[in-house]
Amino acid sequence: MKTIIEPFKIKSVEYVKSTTKQEREEILKNSFYNPFLIPGEDVLIDLLTDSGTSAMSAKQWAGILDGDESYAGSKSYYRFEEVTTKIFGFRHIIPVHQGRAAERILFTMILSDIDSDGRYVNVGKGKYIPSNNHFDTTRANIEFNGAEAVDLVIEEGKHPSVIHPFKGNIDLEKLEAFIKEKGTENIPICMITVTNNTGGGQPVSMENIRSVSAICKKYKIPFFIDACRFAENSYFIKLREKGYEKKTVLEIAQEMFSYADGCTMSAKKDAFANIGGFIAMNDEDRYLECKNLLIITEGYETYGGLAGRDMEAIAQGLEEIIDESYLNYRIHSTKYLGDKLIKTGVPILQPVGGHAIYVDAKSLLPNIPPEKYPGQAVVAELFRYGGIRAVEIGSVMFGKYGKDGKLIPADMELVRLAIPRRVYTQSHIDYVAEVFEEIYSIKDSVKGYKIIEEPKFLRHFTAKFEPLKD
Ligand code: F0G
Repeated sequence: MKTIIEPFKIKSVEYVKSTTKQEREEILKNSFYNPFLIPGEDVLIDLLTDSGTSAMSAKQWAGILDGDESYAGSKSYYRFEEVTTKIFGFRHIIPVHQGRAAERILFTMILSDIDSDGRYVNVGKGKYIPSNNHFDTTRANIEFNGAEAVDLVIEEGKHPSVIHPFKGNIDLEKLEAFIKEKGTENIPICMITVTNNTGGGQPVSMENIRSVSAICKKYKIPFFIDACRFAENSYFIKLREKGYEKKTVLEIAQEMFSYADGCTMSAKKDAFANIGGFIAMNDEDRYLECKNLLIITEGYETYGGLAGRDMEAIAQGLEEIIDESYLNYRIHSTKYLGDKLIKTGVPILQPVGGHAIYVDAKSLLPNIPPEKYPGQAVVAELFRYGGIRAVEIGSVMFGKYGKDGKLIPADMELVRLAIPRRVYTQSHIDYVAEVFEEIYSIKDSVKGYKIIEEPKFLRHFTAKFEPLKD
């Protein structure tokens, strides 16, 4: 059979609201052209993120009712611990309320000394943390702790149209040269993000993970994996890497994590959960430090900022995400939208990644330079024409200002259409493709934007924009 179908049927539905183009124009204006400021209710197809937006299964909902809310020693924690240990294999696991909480704990621990009075003293200045590409919250947590987040993705990973099976790989030569240049004492940890969200949801190969691990071992640098989309990455390894064709996704994931000293995870992605995450590691001392930090702000070690029911949903979700019929449907349905956009002429990052399509706004709107934010312009048009919400992953999200106050643009100007898991049907996706056809036909008249207000960290969430006249 050629048709790949959803390996589930729909039991409960949620209605979406249609609006007129005139209404959407008003909504856009009131939201200062920032998709994060648009009320969710006014969105028809929400492709802002695949995070926390999954449709949970009947079994997950059953787990929600069955969750044990004991403060200490909840049975839901033990189930969560059992499943996470099976897949990730680390000695210690700490639940947290979402991925960035894991990052905050990890980097506070890594980038602090504890003085004789037991106080945390930040020692982040002059420290560097390399990765393929850090996600924005990871980068923010590193920078908030005074260190520098360094992206060392392979060159192919920086060019949207270059085809490579593992565009999320770290450049191994650059990594080793970087360690030598900065000195091991200034690199307290090395990370890798699977799949590489910032670089287009691109997978990292097992060979690359193994080699990064070997380099880290050689220089005695702890190696952590940002595991948000570990199942999609594992499935890409199965599809694309020699020797893994016959392995199960579980076996591939287990091997991947066996090369690392720990991981951070947002269960809002590849665990089908609406909230949750964890931090896991082998080292006992570091774990005890993390636990102290956890208890100050997240909660006790057997719930860490989650309700028992959330841990139940995560445990069940992790069992479901490693199902290969699901992953096959997932990867193919994302590609389905990618193929349609390519047919229309819309330039996208290729090959298509796991959780999203990344439109290359720089190529789609060549008349709009990075300092006029072409990605933000595409985001606005998607909402104006179709009530579709997407997010810019370009100079709004990653741009910085030089000493002269001028924008230092991001490597790429992308617009991400993230596909929530098990949420939208094929006709929803056909509709998205049609809206793109319309935008493509008026693309030469689209104008850029300027920022009129912005915060210091993570500006894309709250910045306000104004359309430019020319
Ligand atoms: N790491 C990666 C690779 C992510 O994609 C995210 C979140 C995080 C860490 C942080 O996890 O949201 O649970 O705190 N990504 C979402 C996104 C927000 O839309 O891509 P979190």
